[in-house]
Amino acid sequence: MHYLVTGHTGFKGSWLALWLAARGHTVSGISLDPLAGSLFERADVKSQMHEDLRIDIRDDASVVDAITSLAPDVVIHLAAQPLVRESYLDPRTTFTTNVIGTLNVLAAVAATSSVKANLIITTDKVYRNLDQEAGYVESDALGGSDPYSSSKAMADILTQSWVKSFPGAPTAIARGGNVIGGGDVSRDRLLPDLLRSFEAGEVTGIRFPAAVRPWQHVLDCLAGYLDLVEALLEGRGVGQWNIGPGRESFVAVRSVADDAVALWGKGVSWKDTSDPSNPHEANLLALDATKARRELGWENKLRYPESLEWTIDWQRRVLSGERAREVSLSQIERFESLRSYEGESAAVASAPNRKA
Ligand SMILES: NC(=O)c1ccc[n+]([C@@H]2O[C@H](COP(=O)([O-])OP(=O)(O)OC[C@H]3O[C@@H](n4cnc5c(N)ncnc54)[C@H](O)[C@@H]3O)[C@@H](O)[C@H]2O)c1
Repeated sequence: MHYLVTGHTGFKGSWLALWLAARGHTVSGISLDPLAGSLFERADVKSQMHEDLRIDIRDDASVVDAITSLAPDVVIHLAAQPLVRESYLDPRTTFTTNVIGTLNVLAAVAATSSVKANLIITTDKVYRNLDQEAGYVESDALGGSDPYSSSKAMADILTQSWVKSFPGAPTAIARGGNVIGGGDVSRDRLLPDLLRSFEAGEVTGIRFPAAVRPWQHVLDCLAGYLDLVEALLEGRGVGQWNIGPGRESFVAVRSVADDAVALWGKGVSWKDTSDPSNPHEANLLALDATKARRELGWENKLRYPESLEWTIDWQRRVLSGERAREVSLSQIERFESLRSYEGESAAVASAPNRKA
């Protein structure tokens, strides 16, 4: 199968390209340049690609041109401006990339008859946030206060409208949780910020230590995406899907920082820089992925503690000189060999109460 991944130079996209290539697929990508020190560079993901294209997804003609000439079987649209803080600093780029960029990908897919499955990636942040304890389900209202969340909610609504208005390639929307894993170098994300400061011997400041997030390992999230693609190829799966962890993995930022400090050792620490003048970010974000468990048979294999351990393990191994590609592929292989854990209720019973 020929997969086209937009955003293949980013964190999730690099893992996805490595995984698809390891499964023997042909993988092409459309993205901007990778960030310095990214997984894309460190694991030489380029060498695994059929076509590694640098195209701005806001440029509709170039996107149509690229997708029609690549003629992929599957499109997975990850490319986005994905950071909440950045979205306050540059709302225009955030909205144009996330909304118009998605429109351009949908239109290009409509013009490409080879596409048999089209997966659009949005986020848990698309839901109108009510700070509720219960996880959001797919039929809940969308919203989003900050520019990132609302731009992704717009992309989600746009995709739903497109699917109804212009029937074509089977299309699904995946709403994932807060993803962690080795090789993320984004700014203003908890784990990358912490790991950077641990390595530099600095103390990182945390803006919202009480915020609770559904933490998920990147491989669990990508496994959900791949299950969805499989379903689309089999004539199922059209619609919206939450691909998030169970409640045992809803953990306060403060606890994640404490656990990362404990796992890293060597006297590292973090400091609370919460300030009422910080731009608003949601306090509690919870996803209910029952639909994906029931209808796709997808289930997280790693709970929060293992997800954090795998992330720190990746960083330590690469720091100690192991090659990033080999470490990533060894984690992919180990992940594929795991069976799902015994479901949410068993996990809740054994997990410490870590909620804020
Ligand atoms: N990482 C998370 O915790 C998380 C959670 C939920 C949803 N998501 C979604 O998953 C997707 C991937 O996130 P990520 O963490 O890998 O982000 P990332 O920042 O690591 O990667 C973003 C990718 O998008 C590309 N891109 C950005 N603007 C572009 C443009 N104008 N034209 C072409 N390419 C462009 C970048 O080059 C990069 O390849 C995004 O859609 C994001 O909203 C991420």
